[in-house]
Amino acid sequence: MNTRKERISILGLGAMGRALASALLEAGAEVTVWNRTSGKAGEFVARGAREAPSVEEAIGAGDLTVACLLDDASVRETLAPATRHLAGGTLVNLTSGSARQARELAGWLDGYGVRFLAGGIMAVPATIGTEGAFILYSGARDVFDRAAPVLAPIGRPRWVGEDPGGAALYDMAALSGMYGMSAGADHAVALVHAEGGDVETFRREVLQPWMEQMLPIMVAGADVAESVPEEYNPAMQATGLENILSASGEAGVPEDLAGHLRASLWRMRRAVG
Ligand SMILES: NC(=O)c1ccc[n+]([C@@H]2O[C@H](COP(=O)([O-])OP(=O)(O)OC[C@H]3O[C@@H](n4cnc5c(N)ncnc54)[C@H](OP(=O)(O)O)[C@@H]3O)[C@@H](O)[C@H]2O)c1
Repeated sequence: MNTRKERISILGLGAMGRALASALLEAGAEVTVWNRTSGKAGEFVARGAREAPSVEEAIGAGDLTVACLLDDASVRETLAPATRHLAGGTLVNLTSGSARQARELAGWLDGYGVRFLAGGIMAVPATIGTEGAFILYSGARDVFDRAAPVLAPIGRPRWVGEDPGGAALYDMAALSGMYGMSAGADHAVALVHAEGGDVETFRREVLQPWMEQMLPIMVAGADVAESVPEEYNPAMQATGLENILSASGEAGVPEDLAGHLRASLWRMRRAVG
């Protein structure tokens, strides 16, 4: 496999599948697309893609089949009638799911002689193909080595090990970090908004630089804590959370998030030692 005119079949033209198709076409790949509901392939056909009328034909048209569907159940449902066509070929699953789902899918496909790579997309549709986008992959190293150059146009390929569940594990763990930050940012903005503050100025001049300053400390965790122990003073942090709860109550903003953090923060810290 090389980077010249690879034949890639994409199953799924949702927001992410469309971004993948677009980036691969842009890179000059020969792309075939399939989607459960017809009528979504027009713009890609206009750019040179082929639309397959069935999953079986899509699989047959590609050296590599990429699934980017809603969830694990939809991948199983889509592939089940077409396993005979996948035999001997390579499937890269970029559908999000759990590590166990990825391991079970790998075992199921292995039974049909399918070479399998599990993926986790660390990007959103708008950032696919940009410098920051990266894709986690797990599964046999030789399958990764063949697929990585072909799929590099969607995002920097990063292999995380032979265990097919590895990419999903890191994906879900990283998403957990993102959702925590996102919920915190939403709560912060709700507080400022409820008290009549200037939300835009707060976002730009306070929240963003504050979160950027804290990000390396949050991510590095214990290692950084050793060099800045006062940052992790438990009594100070407990008081901080009490203050956020008070501020939320005063502003009439739901206290659920701060209450949950107060209850669980130390339990989670203990869980990771
Ligand atoms: N969007 C993001 O920001 C993002 C970021 C990282 C990872 N992802 C992951 O990428 C995957 C796709 O996300 P998306 O944003 O493209 O979702 P989406 O816009 O909701 O598209 C879902 C796709 O799955 C198809 N589908 C759903 N149920 C199906 C079934 N039972 N059988 C066959 N096809 C089925 C849909 O087909 P129809 O058109 O027929 O409904 C559509 O093509 C998800 O696993 C998601 O977690 C998304």
